[in-house]
Amino acid sequence: MTKKELFQYDFEQHVREGLSAYPKFLSSKYIYDDKGDKLFQQIMALPEYYLTNSEYNIIDKFKTELRKEFETSTTGFDLIELGAGDGKKTKLLLRELCENQINFTYKPIDISQNSIDELSANLLDLFPDLDVQGEQGMYFKVLGELAHYNKRPKVIIVLGSNIGNLQHPEAIDFLTKLKDVMAPNDYLFMGFDQKKDPLTIQNAYADSQGVTQEFNRNLLHRINKEMDADFSVDKFEHWEAYDPETGTAKSYLLATEICEVHIGKLDLSVGFKKWETIHTEISQKYDDDIVEWLAHKSGLQVKKHYEDDAKYFKDYLMQVKA
Ligand SMILES: C[S@@+](CC[C@H](N)C(=O)[O-])C[C@H]1O[C@@H](n2cnc3c(N)ncnc32)[C@H](O)[C@@H]1O
Repeated sequence: MTKKELFQYDFEQHVREGLSAYPKFLSSKYIYDDKGDKLFQQIMALPEYYLTNSEYNIIDKFKTELRKEFETSTTGFDLIELGAGDGKKTKLLLRELCENQINFTYKPIDISQNSIDELSANLLDLFPDLDVQGEQGMYFKVLGELAHYNKRPKVIIVLGSNIGNLQHPEAIDFLTKLKDVMAPNDYLFMGFDQKKDPLTIQNAYADSQGVTQEFNRNLLHRINKEMDADFSVDKFEHWEAYDPETGTAKSYLLATEICEVHIGKLDLSVGFKKWETIHTEISQKYDDDIVEWLAHKSGLQVKKHYEDDAKYFKDYLMQVKA
């Protein structure tokens, strides 16, 4: 099977499983096609979506310190980014590294082929001498490959609090697999959105312009397009619920009417009761204790952390526990 066929197979299996389950679920990782990527860029520009500006502020403030931290080896290093998206914040770091003639290769990895293609083309324009080796792939599938990047130190970055889409046991599994491919001098630089005023969090995922709703609905558009399904997408509304006790924001699509959907490619019919949910995403929020606990459970240790001016978001620099 080609990579594309394998991806389609995984997506179809997931849709069959998620829509046959009770309660129903679908993973937000399948939102990101050309349209989903554009909608996420619109989300990043929303006044309510503080995450992007907060992490932009961190990287801008600490880029020189980070460069000095990463440039320790004369052989240079590999900068590997998981879930790179449009690289808006990474470009600050790339500029700092390029302007200081640091020897490094940038390897962005993303589930969305469109993201990788657009980012690679854009970086070629911005930094013609930068060695970019983009790759389409899912976190858990590419982790094994990262072990081959062992000729020189590596810095693995995961921005945007992407880890927040994983429940704690999955996050520990993810961090443990990252630790397994890291050598003692390698770094992991990862963004974790922090617990804060619940309303600020709630609003970030339930914007007044309805962009988040369109983003969430793109899952259904995609199933219609790629699996010959007949979802009446407008009949599904976005709902967000943040629980300050667990720090988990959960996104849903709610059926506002009784309906029956047929997914031709899967030969599957799915019934929805009025107000039935499809759970689509979690966006976990953290504090230092939780991040320390996750790191400890995964065989990693936090070396430093960096915070934005509003104290909304933190990036943690980690290494394998000595
Ligand atoms: C919330 S966006 C953040 C993008 C970027 N890291 C940022 O901070 O702006 C999540 C990104 O991760 C990608 N992604 C989501 N799940 C993924 C997975 N399981 N494997 C690889 N990429 C994934 C999406 O395509 C998207 O580009």
